[in-house]
Amino acid sequence: MSTESFSVSLSLASKVAGYDAAISQAEAALAWLRESRDNGSIEILRIPERRDDLEKAQAVAHRLQQNTSAIAVFGIGGSSLGGQALADLIPFGAPRKLHFFDNIDPFTFEQALKHFDLKTTRFVSISKSGGTAETLIQTLIAADALEKAGGGKYLKDHFVVVTEPKPSALKKFAEDIGCATLDHPPGVGGRYSVLTVVGLLPALLMGLDAGAIRAGAAEALRPLLDGKSAADVPAAAGAALHHALAQQKQLNETVLWLYADELKTFGPWWRQLWAESLGKDGKGSTPVAALGPVDQHSQLQLFLGGPGAKLYTIVTTGMKGKGPAAPAARAQALGLDYLAGRSIGDLAAAEARATAETLAKHGRPVRQMHVEQVNERSIGALMMHFMLETMIMGRLMGVDPFDQPAVEEGKVLARKYLAESK
Ligand code: PA5
Repeated sequence: MSTESFSVSLSLASKVAGYDAAISQAEAALAWLRESRDNGSIEILRIPERRDDLEKAQAVAHRLQQNTSAIAVFGIGGSSLGGQALADLIPFGAPRKLHFFDNIDPFTFEQALKHFDLKTTRFVSISKSGGTAETLIQTLIAADALEKAGGGKYLKDHFVVVTEPKPSALKKFAEDIGCATLDHPPGVGGRYSVLTVVGLLPALLMGLDAGAIRAGAAEALRPLLDGKSAADVPAAAGAALHHALAQQKQLNETVLWLYADELKTFGPWWRQLWAESLGKDGKGSTPVAALGPVDQHSQLQLFLGGPGAKLYTIVTTGMKGKGPAAPAARAQALGLDYLAGRSIGDLAAAEARATAETLAKHGRPVRQMHVEQVNERSIGALMMHFMLETMIMGRLMGVDPFDQPAVEEGKVLARKYLAESK
């Protein structure tokens, strides 16, 4: 199975019982997705073809970049992780003006405000609901810091707000100071919002090609829209594999093992998507993000020697032959013939292959995905792939992949405790 940007092989998972039955069930899920796209009820499926919103976002990004030393992005969960994942496309050592703040660590935040030159720092506050406490406290404190530094008159030039076009505390803040706002599309949930201005305004601010990200997403949608059968839609096949394992009580965890630094934060982005969409009604599987050789030296022992009930998705990239090579003579003098003249990419590629095959040899189901080049287009395709897989999985499991009742409950309680502790 392949799209222009990536290929998928299930050959190391071929013996999963119940896969054929799950693939047949996935046909109904695909029909539901097609219908929901046509009638507009799942808005994310129409976002890849949009460009009008990007023009406005580009104009806002252009203004934000004038005479600017730093841009702080406030937001949490789906309002931050997508932008952070896209930021991994920026090459090592390139100057970075954009900084994401999601974890509301008081020490980091205080340090950052001291470190920034507030006269030339801009703030982007992103919240779908406009009522998330973490994002609001960051916004309030940053505005206060600017006012104390004498910039009260210029607040509107320092802030941009991305939120739904409806009354909320964040929306009112934007109106009160008169800053630019971009609409968070109401029909797109937080963890599905990376392809909207939520992820693409930060992408534009980093100089990335937002149109190419959307084009990649459109490419991953194509097999679905072309009416291909579930076995030929990579997202449906992935969901069916998960579902078959779950039916056999063989799926407590699903591991996404990414062999590329450019996909480092893709793991946490996907983890939120899978966890928050599917962990419901006593059902679900825990998503585990792993990173290349680093996790061979960290989690692999547990994966091989610990309990099973996991699906492994190994994502490799076109690393073979890439990067500097070990000098042959010195490597040989050290008795390292296997490294002589081999590049870092050769070693990483060999390790990825060895990991996949070792897991399979130990009876673990392994799906292999290969992305030759990680760039805007392919990351857009991967993001749409995993969003589709999550939606289809929700349908197969019989849970709503778009709500998050437990998160909402936690938000309400946190507000209550804060009010009580005054
Ligand atoms: O996916 C989700 O719905 C959540 O993770 C939200 O993105 C997160 O809670 C932040 O919410 P909001 O964007 O409303 O501030």
